[in-house]
Amino acid sequence: MANAPVKKVPIHLQSSQNRLLIKNGRVVNEDGMEDADVYIEDGIIKQVGRNLIIPGGTRTIDATGLLVMPGGIDPHTHFELEMMGAKTADDFYKGTRAAVAGGTTTIIDFVLPEKGQSLVEAYNHWRQKADNKVCCDYALHVGVTWWSPSVKKEMQQLVEEHGINSFKMFMAYKDAWMLNDYELCQVMETCVELKALPLIHAENGSIIARNTEKLLAAGVTGPEGHALSRDEEVEAEAVNRACVIANQMNSPLYIVHVMSKSAVQALRLARTRQKQPLFGETLAATIGTDGSHYGNACFRHAAAHVLSPPLRARDTPAAIVDALAHDDLQIIASDNCTFHEKDKELGKDNFSKIPNGVNGVEDRMAILWQKAVNTGAMDPCRFVAVSSAAAARAFHLWPRKGRVAEGADADLALWDPRRERTVSAHAHHHAVDFNIFEGTHVIGSPQYVIVNGRVCLDDGELRVVEGFGKFLPTPPAAPAAYGARERTSDASDAPPADTPSPRASPVYTNGTPTELSISNKQMEGLSVSGCSTPTGRKMREPGQRDLQNSTFSISQELEGLDTKTSVRVRNPPGGKSSGLW
Ligand code: URP
Ligand code: ZN
Ligand code: ZN
Repeated sequence: MANAPVKKVPIHLQSSQNRLLIKNGRVVNEDGMEDADVYIEDGIIKQVGRNLIIPGGTRTIDATGLLVMPGGIDPHTHFELEMMGAKTADDFYKGTRAAVAGGTTTIIDFVLPEKGQSLVEAYNHWRQKADNKVCCDYALHVGVTWWSPSVKKEMQQLVEEHGINSFKMFMAYKDAWMLNDYELCQVMETCVELKALPLIHAENGSIIARNTEKLLAAGVTGPEGHALSRDEEVEAEAVNRACVIANQMNSPLYIVHVMSKSAVQALRLARTRQKQPLFGETLAATIGTDGSHYGNACFRHAAAHVLSPPLRARDTPAAIVDALAHDDLQIIASDNCTFHEKDKELGKDNFSKIPNGVNGVEDRMAILWQKAVNTGAMDPCRFVAVSSAAAARAFHLWPRKGRVAEGADADLALWDPRRERTVSAHAHHHAVDFNIFEGTHVIGSPQYVIVNGRVCLDDGELRVVEGFGKFLPTPPAAPAAYGARERTSDASDAPPADTPSPRASPVYTNGTPTELSISNKQMEGLSVSGCSTPTGRKMREPGQRDLQNSTFSISQELEGLDTKTSVRVRNPPGGKSSGLW
């Protein structure tokens, strides 16, 4: 028999197979820090600890002075979204490239169907837009922008067949995406049936519509009218109403983009009576800038800051940082939704026509570090919690994502707490030439970013690969949202049933953990930092690779040629991407 031809390993596969050792760094997780090395193979963290035995041919990164943190998870982006007569400027390539540049290694985008459009059709469209472009892993939420029995059926299909576990509803954008209270009840009930997490855009759309009519009639047409039409009370009323509806439907709830002190106060009050977990998300924009920009005489400048809910008074950023530090809010996202200047100009004569959205996916982590860690409001552990781990928990990606531990995906940000830079549109990676954080001096940024084991920011140089990321199916019944009401009897292969609700998360006061007993429970089932867990039990998320076998094998990789990564990297190193590590 003739010799079988030697199979060549494609160069991009070789690179994804490489071994990587991160040495001398300080590993930071949501529940603690330790000096430890991290060994990565085949995109997975294989060992965390000291004096590791490492095979030859391993690249070593010296992380002396760096913090080795889980890559950021930004659970709120809008790439290639058509809204208000325009399309967002950042597509899935540029958007995820900017994300990686800033230390974020997973994003969750929103499928937003038109009213009357099939949800599954819209989902398929989003997958088509994203799959070949994403530079890091991504998951999807789906918007429920209209209601009918067919929508309910499609929600079930999306959960059972398409890896969706969260649905966004709008209480604003009247005549476009807004649902009425009766519909919100039905969507939430359906979420509970499916064990999916309902997400809410909380603003009173009817009040906004009426205020807008009055402002325009009074001759207020500029961007300042945007903020005037929707003050804090308009947001807080909707937050309260959403919480009441969720409580009545016995549903967990996640409020997206909480922008004001009044909304935080509404959340705080709701938590005293809420039966099910209640998550609050805020934005980098909220802590990094403020509503004073709406008064800027330059339309381009003021319009670039228009998003909904709007930026607030000057004392809001500090108050929101405080809310994040004390667990009134759990998550910071970006709501990245950039528009070119020509699109913002659609609202030149009428503020209600300015496409809503700002940048943030690239600067989210640095802005949080600057405003929260450098000010002493948060310690690095809480930073990891709000920028990564809490989102992983809420959307059932934890502990595969959001944690530096054996068995987790090798998504890491190697953070230099001393690196100084000034944020500017001249240096950012977005498709737009405006940055709402322009001129902000930050101390602390990533020096290396590792995406599924590949060094994509290499000593400050960006080397992403278009199409390298993969879609992350998110299973329903996230313990963080549904664990409290249903405990698994046999926990051998499942996440701990007592994964804390947002309310039960560790609370930090001036950087000091005050509820560390909970952290120990969170550790159960995981081998953390090279130490055995109390139970010695390892946990595997659905779809996660078998981690027992840590032996490098080209033949195994060839067998796995049908994996998404191997077939979807359209631009291997040397093409659009630049180089190997
Ligand atoms: O202004 C915003 N937030 N634009 C994006 C759409 C949304 O409501 O999240
Ligand atoms: Zn929204
Ligand atoms: Zn949004």
